[in-house]
Amino acid sequence: MRIDVLTLFPQFFESPLNCSILKRAQETHIVEIALTDIRDFAADKYRKVDDKPYGGGPGMVMMPGPVFDCFEHVSKLSPEKGRVILLTPQGQRLDQKKAIELSKENRLILIAGRYEGFDERIRIGLGAEQISIGDYVLNGGELAAMVIIDAIVRLLPGVLGDDDSVKDDSFSEAVGGGLEYPQYTRPEVFRGMKVPEILLSGDHKKIAQWRRQQAQDRTQKWRPDLLDK
Ligand code: ADE
Repeated sequence: MRIDVLTLFPQFFESPLNCSILKRAQETHIVEIALTDIRDFAADKYRKVDDKPYGGGPGMVMMPGPVFDCFEHVSKLSPEKGRVILLTPQGQRLDQKKAIELSKENRLILIAGRYEGFDERIRIGLGAEQISIGDYVLNGGELAAMVIIDAIVRLLPGVLGDDDSVKDDSFSEAVGGGLEYPQYTRPEVFRGMKVPEILLSGDHKKIAQWRRQQAQDRTQKWRPDLLDK
């Protein structure tokens, strides 16, 4: 998979992309992630990428010119057309289902905005879909793009040591779209708290049953909204 990110702050991504799983996924060529600075496509010598909103109002709006020019440059970096996504609080909310869907694409082009938002002609002209990571407003789309990348890359075959580990994740079909069951590791007793007996029994059928029940109970208790879906 190839992921292009168009942003005013490529440096924002450097540390998270150079750690742990995301780093290894790039080193093993399972994913290629390319960052392009929108400001490099500004038309004037001040490298201006934003301007006042028509009709008045607070803040600045991202101008269409630099984003279009940047997009057209990035598009040509790979023959694959790719799915174009704007990160904005107005978008469709990201969930695990969406992450799974996106992880099946060959190429994603993520566009992270700053300021009060994008000139509307960016969305229309690029035929972009919009994604939000939640009902709160961030200072820009960079963290949202990073969240999408993180959620997607771990789903790519070969990224996690054990491909089964994504199957039992919270929100996955194996746990009925609800929360994951509780996990324990050594020691068997920690500060007086014991590992549930059943997990030490070696009875795999009973363990699976217990985990299913636990997953159901905690979903009911902590995230009943997931059961309504
Ligand atoms: N940009 C600002 N806030 C955002 C959000 N919640 N999701 C995606 N992009 C954003």
